[in-house]
Amino acid sequence: MRPKLLYEAYENDFLIGAAVSRKNLKNYHTLLKNFNSITPENELKFENIHPARDNFNFDDFDKMVSYAKENEKVVRGHTLIWHNQIPKWLVEEKNLDRQNLLKDMEMHISTIMDRYRNSVYCWDVVNEAITDENDGIFRDTFWKRYIGNDFIDRAFFFAHEAVPKAQLYLNEYNLEIENKADKLIEVIKNLKKNHVPIHGVGIQGHYSIYFPKIKMIQNMFEVFSKLDLMLQITELDVSMFRFEDRRKDLKTPTNEMIENQKRYYNKLFKLFREYKDLISGITFWGVADDYTWLDDYPVQGRKNWPLLFDIRHQPKAIFNELISRS
Ligand code: GLA
Repeated sequence: MRPKLLYEAYENDFLIGAAVSRKNLKNYHTLLKNFNSITPENELKFENIHPARDNFNFDDFDKMVSYAKENEKVVRGHTLIWHNQIPKWLVEEKNLDRQNLLKDMEMHISTIMDRYRNSVYCWDVVNEAITDENDGIFRDTFWKRYIGNDFIDRAFFFAHEAVPKAQLYLNEYNLEIENKADKLIEVIKNLKKNHVPIHGVGIQGHYSIYFPKIKMIQNMFEVFSKLDLMLQITELDVSMFRFEDRRKDLKTPTNEMIENQKRYYNKLFKLFREYKDLISGITFWGVADDYTWLDDYPVQGRKNWPLLFDIRHQPKAIFNELISRS
């Protein structure tokens, strides 16, 4: 009997996804067999898919959607409204005000969602709207500045109107930190009070072998289990470095790092399974260590090894452990 694929090992628990770009589909084709969900890494970002007011560039994402269909995977839509990777035409518009921006927002959301109504089952409608600072709840972004605090409400209403059956998520990071989780809860309460159609919270999950402690993640699940929303881990990776660590000299991970990462992923997946009724999907932000955004963040040009497959596309020991656990 052939060994199980990763998604098969968790088939009764949640979807297992990976973020990938169109140009890497071929390169990762064999490894992608382990995932039953994909997320476009950048193809749906505003500046890429909507580079001019009257011009949408659907080609890249169309190709990804066909690939997903041919290979029997579902697609997570990431992301519609975010403060990064937005185009010049939008930001530099002459008559920028609430009404005009709401029109642009609606046009953006409805055009994209309508096109992919039968190929994308869930959307990160808004990404990273909450501030990490002690200066209130919302991050000071382009969207908030011109539309106001209800830009999240509006985005979700537009999305629901475009495709009523789509699952709509609010995606965030650092939710393992109590202060930020409290703000999220406040936001969700208000959305619900205003009858905003929201179905889930996306937890990015950019972790490291040092932080957050698994207990913090469990506490977050406990608190969020009362929200009456689904949860998804949307951008999982486990960096080998503390965030403050700016070393650049390591060419390969140390044995200690590899062991710590194995331990961390093991505990993490044990926890995910305990909360499987709450969690509908786990998506990794990448496929194998030969290509990860962490090679350039937070230290430009520093190699990192955050995923389940190594730089030569070989499964790490942890990959086999996660599979044999089922
Ligand atoms: C954020 C975004 C993702 C991606 C990652 C890393 O978490 O939500 O789309 O851009 O940063 O690059």
